[in-house]
Order: sequence, then C-alpha cells, then structure tokens
Amino acid sequence: MIVLHRPATGPCRPTVHISPDVPTIAGELLAGAIERTIARQGRCRLALSGGSTPAPIFAWLRQNLPTRCYDQLHITWADERVLPCNPSFAGDWQAFDPESNLRLAYEKWLAHVPIDVRRVHPLALSADAKVETLRFGRSFRQEMDGEIDVALLGVGPDGHVASLFPDHPALDVDDLCMAVHDSPKPPAERITLSLPVLDRARVVVVAATGDNKADMLSNAFAGVNGGEGLPVARVRGGGDLHWVLDPAAGRQIAAAAISK
Ligand code: 6PG
Repeated sequence: MIVLHRPATGPCRPTVHISPDVPTIAGELLAGAIERTIARQGRCRLALSGGSTPAPIFAWLRQNLPTRCYDQLHITWADERVLPCNPSFAGDWQAFDPESNLRLAYEKWLAHVPIDVRRVHPLALSADAKVETLRFGRSFRQEMDGEIDVALLGVGPDGHVASLFPDHPALDVDDLCMAVHDSPKPPAERITLSLPVLDRARVVVVAATGDNKADMLSNAFAGVNGGEGLPVARVRGGGDLHWVLDPAAGRQIAAAAISK
C-alpha cells in the first residue's frame, strides 16, 4: 500500500491511501473514526453513500465494526435516489426501490447488525422530492443537529460526490440539504446533503476504484486543469480527509508523487 500524506499546500489536502484492498482500508478508517467520535462526544453521526464502491465497505463494517458502537451510532445518507416507494420507516427497507442507497446499506450491513432504527434517518420515504427534502431537513436538524461527524463518499468520474455535480447550482446552496431534479447520473431526482454540511464533517473518507477516475482525481489532488473546483476537491472535511483509491484510480497521483 502507498500512503501519500496531505500536500503542504493547495485547497484539497487529503491523505491518499492507494491499495488493492479499498474495503479494508476504508473500513478501518471509518471504524476508527466512529469509535473515536463516540469516545469523544458520546455519539457518532455517520453519512453513507450509494453506488458500487461502498457495498464491500459495508460488508467489512458488518463483520468488523464493534457491536458496542451501534448504541451511539446515528446513520443517514449523503444522498438518496428519489424513486417510487412507500415504506413507512427505514426499517421497512425491503419496501424501498432496489436502486435505493438506503436499501443497499441495509442489504449489505444494517439488516444484519443491532442498529436501532430510531437512529437511522432516511432522506426519502416517498417519491415526492419536495416533501421529503422538507421532512428530512427537519429530522436532520432535530435528531442530528444538522451536522455529520463522519462521511463515506464515493466519487464519480466527473468528480461528483453525493448528488453534487460539477458546475451545478446545488454546489452554491448552503441549506442543510436539497432536492436535485436533473442529476446527470440516473435517476434524475435525488436528495443530497449540501456541500457545506459535507465539508464540515470532521472525518471524510472518499473511496474510489477504476481507471476512469484516475485523471480526475489527479487534477483534483494537484488543483490543476479545473480539478480544484470539482465537488470532490471542495469537500475538505473538518479535520481528517482520506482518499482511499485502488491502484487504477490512484495511478496518476502515484506516478506524479514518484516523479518528484
Ligand atoms: C449515488 C451515489 C453517488 C456515487 C458516485 C460514485 O447515489 O449514486 O451517492 O454519489 O457515490 O456516483 O459511484 P460508484 O461508487 O458506483 O463509482
């Protein structure tokens, strides 16, 4: 494994971990952050992402996060796809659409561990994005004080995180969350935490695999070719920022570091 400590300067200063075993490295960083947060403040507010990269990380957490953590763990999502569904609450996870980010986390992790469903806060309980954004915003403020302590983010080849896409007006919204109606990544309708909320998270773990993200990540890391303006580069976190990349996704960053 290669670990590149945060660059001395530049807007985005992640510690970059390049390893074939992204699930274990990301899982260990998340578990450590969750345990330290609980020890420090008695609870941990965790935001999860969807997509393909988090699934094996959820499987690692299912096996390895200490059971004692679940009594102080609050879980929500960095974003959620707004899809036809009519669950009555998060625990009704099989009533969510198969493409739902909540359902993914339950299938791979939460359905198999003793998490109290009262501490699981879904972004969407129906297909009405406007209603659900207002409902979740109230719940996020009341139950989690509108803050995230630890965030697991994936990143798209265009540099989007959650449902915050490059050059999209949603990047300039400083509410807690918002609806996105024109996501370039289907489905078009989504609800997302805002950039300021993600940027304030004390610990941020961005996980990425695949060669199709190598150039974008290199530009975001070096702050060149517009990379400094990408959503992934604008989530700096409030303390610990980690990028966990497989060798394909980290190829350009590693090559640049070796050539120095
Ligand atoms: C979603 C995710 C999205 C995802 C990226 C990366 O709802 O799809 O929240 O932001 O994290 O698109 O997806 P992959 O991990 O599948 O590359």
